[in-house]
Amino acid sequence: MTEPSTQPPTAQSIDDLISSASAELENLSDLEAVDQWRVSYLGRRGALTTVLRSLSSLDVEERRTIGALANQAKNTLEERLELRVQQINEAALDLSASQDRLDVTLPGRPALGGGLHPTTKIVREICDAFVAMGFGVVEGPEVEWDHYNFEMLNIPKGHPARDMWNTLWVDYQDPSGENNMLLRTHTSPMQARVMENREPPIRVVVPGKCYRYEATDATHEWHFYQVEGLAVGEGITFADLKGTLYEFARRMFGEDRKIRFRCDYFPFVEPGVDMSIDCFACDGDGEGCRICRDSGWIEIMGAGMIHPRVLEGVGYDTEKYTGFAFGMGPERIAMLKYGIDDIRHFYANDLRFLRQF
Ligand code: PHE
Repeated sequence: MTEPSTQPPTAQSIDDLISSASAELENLSDLEAVDQWRVSYLGRRGALTTVLRSLSSLDVEERRTIGALANQAKNTLEERLELRVQQINEAALDLSASQDRLDVTLPGRPALGGGLHPTTKIVREICDAFVAMGFGVVEGPEVEWDHYNFEMLNIPKGHPARDMWNTLWVDYQDPSGENNMLLRTHTSPMQARVMENREPPIRVVVPGKCYRYEATDATHEWHFYQVEGLAVGEGITFADLKGTLYEFARRMFGEDRKIRFRCDYFPFVEPGVDMSIDCFACDGDGEGCRICRDSGWIEIMGAGMIHPRVLEGVGYDTEKYTGFAFGMGPERIAMLKYGIDDIRHFYANDLRFLRQF
């Protein structure tokens, strides 16, 4: 930096000031030093400011020419200052861009959009079909009492029908020392729970998770879903059961579906049936079809008229009320609809499987 001169300014001294100040500025590489430079030349007590102040000691003629030069010098230094600041900022940006390796031109990462699980989709589709026919949707506990899972369903302790449901018992003993808490083996316990809490007419479907103590294979899981259905009222007959389930089959599997009922045994219905639809893959032809395994028919649920003992158990007048119930496995229905060959895919959490739905 040049010391403010006490001599009156001349064209030469102003020129010298510009050269030395510019040379000094060129060598500065950080903003703090540049600011000190600004103070020492252009600040209140800076070299150039001193020159401008001392113009008064010149005579009029000189003051005009030297004054003009001094003002030009001020403008020149201010311009160079601005340029230098800009250069230093750009250099800093270049440096950080090369060091941080932050590529601001990279496209953003797309947000991962989740999707519904195939079971959830099918459960919703099943429920929607029944809601459209006037059914409500309710849910119930997965940890259940023997009382609701079996006894209220006309399956007393020690009855061989219990073997139809391999049960996972909860390690719990009630005050009498009995082991009577379990993971529900089906959604049917909700039949009694709903009837206990409401008066007919009742029309509900009950989606939910069930558990069985079973070895797994392509068609068996130890946990799976069911959708239960229940309709109770005055004058409900087997024709209502057939009509309702026929309508469901058409909504779920297409307008042209035929249905078939065959006798089946469940202790809580009488008569009890299993319902099949004609195979939508081969249109019931059978021959060589791997969906219906050559039979032309696909079993999709159990159903029947609610057993009078079940109605009596919840205190209903069996002379007045009748009803039907049904239960189906949504995974099985999803397997049929989507051509899934192994039920174990559903809960293996393999995204390659899940992303397809
Ligand atoms: N709960 C029965 C099962 O799990 C299915 C069913 C429900 C059958 C309702 C008849 C009526 O096998």
